[in-house]
Amino acid sequence: MTIMKKIRLGMIGGGIGAFIGDAHRRASRICNDYELVGGVFDADYERSIEFAKNEGIDLKRCYKSVEDLISAETKMAAGQKMEAVAIVTPNALHYPFAKSLLLAGFHLVCEKPMTMTVAEAVELEELVEKTKLTFALTHTYTGYPMVRQMKDLIASGVLGTIQRIDAQYYQGWINSIIHGTESRITGVWRLDPKHAGASSCMGDIGVHAFNLIEYTTGLEINEVLSDLNPVKEDVKLDLDGTVLLRFGKNLKGVIRSSQVCGGEENNLTIAVYGSKASLKWGQENPNYLYMLSDTEPAKTFKPAHGYNMAFAESSHTMPSGHPEGIYEALANIYKGAAKSIRGEKFTPGEFPTVHDGVRGMKFIHAVVDSNKAGNIWKKL
Ligand SMILES: NC(=O)c1ccc[n+]([C@@H]2O[C@H](COP(=O)([O-])OP(=O)(O)OC[C@H]3O[C@@H](n4cnc5c(N)ncnc54)[C@H](O)[C@@H]3O)[C@@H](O)[C@H]2O)c1
Repeated sequence: MTIMKKIRLGMIGGGIGAFIGDAHRRASRICNDYELVGGVFDADYERSIEFAKNEGIDLKRCYKSVEDLISAETKMAAGQKMEAVAIVTPNALHYPFAKSLLLAGFHLVCEKPMTMTVAEAVELEELVEKTKLTFALTHTYTGYPMVRQMKDLIASGVLGTIQRIDAQYYQGWINSIIHGTESRITGVWRLDPKHAGASSCMGDIGVHAFNLIEYTTGLEINEVLSDLNPVKEDVKLDLDGTVLLRFGKNLKGVIRSSQVCGGEENNLTIAVYGSKASLKWGQENPNYLYMLSDTEPAKTFKPAHGYNMAFAESSHTMPSGHPEGIYEALANIYKGAAKSIRGEKFTPGEFPTVHDGVRGMKFIHAVVDSNKAGNIWKKL
């Protein structure tokens, strides 16, 4: 048996108290393909060092800036140099860091939304094309076995003609911030256009619903009409909104998304309705995929059963009845990226790509433009 060498991973962001960086580290360990060797873990160097000490990372590889990281790591011997970097900072930093890291030859795992503008996203796509490096965009929900089952069931044609698509992403955590009952240290940058970009709600979570629709159906949304709501006068970005979708001539849908639905936690759902049957999935109970039809009793698909299609079957690690969740879903994306980095064969859809990032940025900007222009149809 060949012993596979771990991919030497760096991380930008994800320091003490940060949210998603920790999930990335756990995911990279679950899939067992990576070893975290260094990074720039925090905007504050002292805190970055403290983090590196806690994690047992060589302090010489805890850098003050991305420029310092590139300069030092690119001088290292081939067997030592960092090979891939995860970017888990607030949105505004994804593009500049991704660009300089790609130009320096690093594979990337990058958080969404990929950039601040469509032009930046297109530039990154061209750079990935030119450098042939791996770029995995962490639309985490695509890593769930039952989302992959949904994708393959839809591709098999069992739903007949798709006639309606409905996705929802409701959270409630921003209520306490805008109504002044809680002050959070992290996460609040999402309300500031300088760090978040053109949108809060649609940029942060609506874009996941958008990605899930295009990922599971293989269809592209052509046009959107949005109605966004900042909820309060002093809030600069949307915290809530509804987006009507047009695919082709006879297929329409909707994305409903909100960060102020009191009591909602992470309520992402998708329903795809076809002429013969329909599929429904929700992230708060991710191990159940429901198939409905007018002619047969409802069916429930669950992970780790021989009746699933091959992609879903290869996307769980435990036998049936052992629930797997968000860390495993993210680990599946890391696993797919590892295969690509090593030049191994992988299934399309094992990780969202830079192209999905371009689509996401087109969605966010079309939605914001539609709302600004008085709720009119905008092409992506
Ligand atoms: N895929 C998902 O499901 C998912 C979930 C949550 C967040 N996200 C995305 O992940 C990103 C980070 O979100 P978060 O909630 O973890 O934010 P956070 O505020 O919790 O963490 C951000 C981290 O970046 C660090 N940072 C800021 N500036 C830096 C710099 N110049 N150099 C190095 N580090 C720097 C901060 O110190 C902090 O450690 C966002 O783009 C967000 O949209 C994705």
